[in-house]
Amino acid sequence: MIAPSLLSADFSNLAKEVEMLNSSSCDLIHLDIMDGVFVPNISFGFPVIKSIKDKVKKPLDAHLMIVEPDKFIKNFAEAGVEYLSVHYEVCNHLNRTVQNIRSYGMKAGVAINPATPVSVLEDILGECDFIVVMSVNPGFAAQKYIDSIDKVRKLRKMIDSNGYNCLIEIDGGINRDNVEELSKAGVDIFVAGNAVFSAADPLAEISLLQSKCSR
Ligand code: DX5
Ligand code: ZN
Repeated sequence: MIAPSLLSADFSNLAKEVEMLNSSSCDLIHLDIMDGVFVPNISFGFPVIKSIKDKVKKPLDAHLMIVEPDKFIKNFAEAGVEYLSVHYEVCNHLNRTVQNIRSYGMKAGVAINPATPVSVLEDILGECDFIVVMSVNPGFAAQKYIDSIDKVRKLRKMIDSNGYNCLIEIDGGINRDNVEELSKAGVDIFVAGNAVFSAADPLAEISLLQSKCSR
């Protein structure tokens, strides 16, 4: 699945960008929510999500780069989000948070920073619908990809050997040059911001990325 990140869209033309994504073959729309505390940047919040909700025809995948995400889980459910991920690094009671997300009928994801090993997920993996492997330090679009192939392979093994039904999403610096290898290593969902929105033809770029996925 390809999930273009709206963070790289032209916000002065958001309705047009959403129309473009609707007409594309993309699978999800990735929303990067930043609070200026967990990450050194602030992005957008509910007014923006509400303004596009009635226009989007693809499921919304919100990635919370915020402290105390539990405070807002209900709001994201009400805003129509279907995939919701929180960061491992900010959750003291991760099991409770994941259950809370699922209780609203959303798919629950846990995101891990580049310096966080996949081994910390051992006792939560069976409860998750997806894991987000960060391949950049979160906070900004268009950063350089940090090699995460070994992490993905390890995680794939942990999921498959336990028979869990959990997808692997990768986020950060994804483009036509690394999608294929990551797909073979076990990634299911690719977030792509800069690669899609800076392409001369975003629709063709989305199709190209999809054609390079083998899973
Ligand atoms: C980073 C965000 C990513 C980012 C992806 O903090 O979580 O989703 O916007 O953008 P690209 O694909 O440009 O790295
Ligand atoms: Zn993201």
